[in-house]
Amino acid sequence: MNLNLALPVGTTLDRFIMRKQEDFPYASGELSQLLRDIALAGKIVNREINRAGLLDISGAYGQQNVQGEEQQKLDVIANIRFIRALRNGGEVCAIISEEEDEVIQTGNTKGKYIVAIDPLDGSSNIDVNVSIGTIFSIYRRKSEVGCDGTIEDCLQKGTEQVAAGYVIYGSSTMLVYTTGHGVNGFTYEPSLGEFFLSHPDIKTPATGNVYSCNEGGVNSFPEGVKQYLNYCKDNGYSARYIGSLVADFHRNLLKGGIYIYPATAKAPNGKLRLMYECNSLAFIVEQAGGKATDGARRIMEIDPTELHQRSPLVIGSPEMVDKVQEFMQSEVTV
Ligand code: AHG
Ligand code: MN
Ligand code: MN
Repeated sequence: MNLNLALPVGTTLDRFIMRKQEDFPYASGELSQLLRDIALAGKIVNREINRAGLLDISGAYGQQNVQGEEQQKLDVIANIRFIRALRNGGEVCAIISEEEDEVIQTGNTKGKYIVAIDPLDGSSNIDVNVSIGTIFSIYRRKSEVGCDGTIEDCLQKGTEQVAAGYVIYGSSTMLVYTTGHGVNGFTYEPSLGEFFLSHPDIKTPATGNVYSCNEGGVNSFPEGVKQYLNYCKDNGYSARYIGSLVADFHRNLLKGGIYIYPATAKAPNGKLRLMYECNSLAFIVEQAGGKATDGARRIMEIDPTELHQRSPLVIGSPEMVDKVQEFMQSEVTV
């Protein structure tokens, strides 16, 4: 029997972050600390999610968020946990969250960074033991240090992100992030309370055979998307749709595939949020060799005008994204 005891458990997230910081001689360590704060909040939320069935924290919270969506108790709990961790950390002057109407000032006016967050992604899966996640983006503030963060600090293009990542609470919990130098994935070892580097330098396959989209809405999809879906079927692709963006994205990132949330009759600008979901995953996928567009424009170049702005999203393996765009651009409207 091979016990594999010779194999080391690997590099911890903390050590990895520290090592990366040493590559930048003038780095002050604040971004590193901020990433550690996010990882800590991720561990706490992971614990809450794992125990949700035993505590009274499943189900609806009884209120809607600013986007008119029913909040789940765990949405609210994750939101509080992340905001608290970022406030205590001190590196962030302002936060924008899918679950909050307005910009949240942390009171850390010396903080250089802004965080945009979807504290819990995959609402429909929270209570049914299916993978869910947390998605985040980090920006450098534009305003002078010493005062509150401004709306201009928060409404930056995706190209301005200094880091982005997600935590996936799944069959194992993982943290995947980029600071613009490739993408690395860390798996949580609960008995040690640590994330370990398990997926160094993730590259997404150039193409795949999985398409992920909620085909329930197909009748109101743009013509080009309908045609692409038929192309997938004609070519023997597999459909995989979990309904948690993080989980669908993570699978496609590792195995190759495409995720599409187009404009629909119900959601004329798409459903997903540019600041909390699209930009972050776009940065990650590009760093892994993939692409993200709204069907016409590169996601990260869209100029945001509102905190809770929505966008159609076509994201994944580069050749597949190109193919969708081909169909969408030659779309014949009838
Ligand atoms: P959230 O739970 O943060 O509101 O996000 C839900 C999103 C995303 O995770 C998922 O891919 C999508 O909504 C599912 O929407 P449909 O039910 O319309 O397919
Ligand atoms: Mn979400
Ligand atoms: Mn959410």
